[in-house]
Amino acid sequence: MVIRVNVAEVVDNLVKDHDVILSSLKVLYKVINTDRPDPNDVKLLIEFFDAFIDKCHHAKEEFILFPTLNLRLFPFEGSPVYVMVSEHGIARYLIRMSSELLRAWVEGGDEGAGQALINYLRLLADHLTQHIKKENDVLFPSSLALDYVVSSKSVNGIEREADHEGWVMRINELIRKYGIQ
Ligand SMILES: [Fe+2]
Ligand SMILES: [Fe+2]
Repeated sequence: MVIRVNVAEVVDNLVKDHDVILSSLKVLYKVINTDRPDPNDVKLLIEFFDAFIDKCHHAKEEFILFPTLNLRLFPFEGSPVYVMVSEHGIARYLIRMSSELLRAWVEGGDEGAGQALINYLRLLADHLTQHIKKENDVLFPSSLALDYVVSSKSVNGIEREADHEGWVMRINELIRKYGIQ
């Protein structure tokens, strides 16, 4: 089944996700800048990055918004979409690297892995911050040249599958715990 999705609505949805992600990154910076980061909070953040950013937010961009942009606004090669999906790949790798290092640190007691984890998480936070800025400032405004995109998936469908609401609740608890606005 192919559905039409209003571009202004999907962009609005994605920008709201960006706000949640940017707040989670403020928590992350606070956590990794303490002398003894709480492993449970680090674990929750990495799970949030995997579930909310990779499996939900990037899936909405890659399944719903981007394909029509490539077909109707800019051919893929060298396009802004090319850059964005390459950066999603980098984020996915950094999230996987982080969960492996978390395991080595928490389950294996490897302090070196704990230090490497902090470095990778800082890379991930910096990477996501600049990625979101490019989408908010450049890609999303230019995608508004189209009224609608077509996709086999809906925003609600992807969000349901990825437990979007549950993750917003869990990350908001952590955002409150760390006193982030
Ligand atoms: Fe993205
Ligand atoms: Fe995004």
